[in-house]
Amino acid sequence: MSSLKPLKPVSDNKKKITTHVLQEMKRKGEKISMLTAYDYSTARILDESGIDVILVGDSASNVMAGHETTLPITLNEMIYHASGVIRAINNCLVVVDLPFGTYQGNSKTALESAIRIMKESGAHAVKLEGGREIRESIDRILSAGIPVMGHLGLTPQSIYKFGTYTVRAKEDEEARRLIEDAQLLEETGCFAIVLEKIPAKLAGEVSKSVNIPTIGIGAGNETDGQVLVVHDMLGINKDFSPRFLRRYADLYNTISDATKAYVKDVKSKDFPNQDECY
Ligand code: KIV
Repeated sequence: MSSLKPLKPVSDNKKKITTHVLQEMKRKGEKISMLTAYDYSTARILDESGIDVILVGDSASNVMAGHETTLPITLNEMIYHASGVIRAINNCLVVVDLPFGTYQGNSKTALESAIRIMKESGAHAVKLEGGREIRESIDRILSAGIPVMGHLGLTPQSIYKFGTYTVRAKEDEEARRLIEDAQLLEETGCFAIVLEKIPAKLAGEVSKSVNIPTIGIGAGNETDGQVLVVHDMLGINKDFSPRFLRRYADLYNTISDATKAYVKDVKSKDFPNQDECY
């Protein structure tokens, strides 16, 4: 065995983040920090470093499984990722994406999918992509007492409808529809909304037009919070460089340099040395 069984980290008595705390943060003008995570070890670092929300995003399909889109990831796989994250955290709120095909077009299926995520992973909330077209699904999930985060703008599960990952809602008609959808998500009872890749001005307008927090990715600085995919912000994906991404580390090179050094030490018989043997 390479390491001891991980134990639930000891609580540091910091305030637990709930959906209500997030709404309070919006009222006070305190920005919300959100990052994705898909495993125990990463989630533990993020939680202990003070992140407000962890999103177990279906971007796991891309960064964990290597698929081109988010469409192939399954409900069972999302539950597997979310369970590890939940075992790691003490303070942050954990939101899990309902994957493609588990909520669209059938609100009963949507509720069953959301219940499986909550029951089997211990997550605190679910996220669904879309506006008016999934209202019935959101309604039904909320009626079971499950908090829902919305997601508007670029919704990657609809990539084959959009055709590209470029900025959404640049035209007036789409922008107007997006504002209406945001208001509808608030009315329906969503506790927050992700706004992905829309003009900063529009994201600011949306954020002012609803009382629930907005969390932006590629949506400027006027949203109530920000989210990034953890692999992108840590610089693990060296080939992904959209304009909105700020890299906070260069883990691709850190891991690559460490691997090269390890390979060299093994080949040269430098590792393990006397002190590293029993
Ligand atoms: O799946 C994901 O990582 C997301 C974020 C980009 C918001 O939905």
